Amino acid sequence: MDAYVETERLTLRRFTPDDADLLIELDSDPAVMRYLPGGGEATTAEEVRELVLPYILSGYEKWDGNFGLFAAYAKDSGDFVGWFHLRPEQGAPQDEVELGYRLRQAEWGKGYATEGGRGLVDKGFTDLDVRLVWAATMTANVASQKVMEKIGMTLAEKIPTPPDMQMCKGAERGGVLYQIDREGWKAAVVTGG
Ligand SMILES: CC(C)(COP(=O)(O)OP(=O)(O)OC[C@H]1O[C@@H](n2cnc3c(N)ncnc32)[C@H](O)[C@@H]1OP(=O)(O)O)[C@@H](O)C(=O)NCCC(=O)NCCS
Repeated sequence: MDAYVETERLTLRRFTPDDADLLIELDSDPAVMRYLPGGGEATTAEEVRELVLPYILSGYEKWDGNFGLFAAYAKDSGDFVGWFHLRPEQGAPQDEVELGYRLRQAEWGKGYATEGGRGLVDKGFTDLDVRLVWAATMTANVASQKVMEKIGMTLAEKIPTPPDMQMCKGAERGGVLYQIDREGWKAAVVTGG
């Protein structure tokens, strides 16, 4: 299967119908889920099989393979590292896309989120005629904001904590919305940001 994106150390490619166990294991770690809806709760195996994976697979059809949520593998070991997504929000223009990432705890701190995220932003502006990439997280999720900043995204606005995140630690501190447009991306490429 063709890669969606290749970076120096990662290959991003489509999930397949056989990949439920990868997602179940990823979402079973409370540390991974800490700043996500449920505030640390695992996604059940049934939910992954019946809802999450079918939704991911349907995205490949919906966006003709241009956008979606993609599995990341380390090139050296072949290990599943986690996932990244680049996709328009429902009802939003196709050229405004959301960046997201969720990595296995064993893979944190290796620069993978920055590398994969940058790979998707590059692809968006280079191949997909994207006008704006945005990403949102909780104020308490410092690691995620660091990734956004390292990619060259900047804080656009502070946002309220969504209702399904109210049980997360630090929910009272609200959230943040980061973004990068084509000009910002060009500048980040030049400065290596
Ligand atoms: C957020 C996440 C993707 C970061 O992945 P990662 O591969 O460890 O990130 P990187 O290695 O690219 O690190 C990026 C920067 O964040 C910093 N960082 C990583 N974890 C950190 C933490 N817990 N606190 C503060 N800084 C942190 C790194 O040091 C690095 O900055 P530096 O280069 O200046 O040192 C990962 O922690 C994760 O999957 N978390 C759970 C899911 C999640 O919260 N996703 C985001 C939802 S919006």
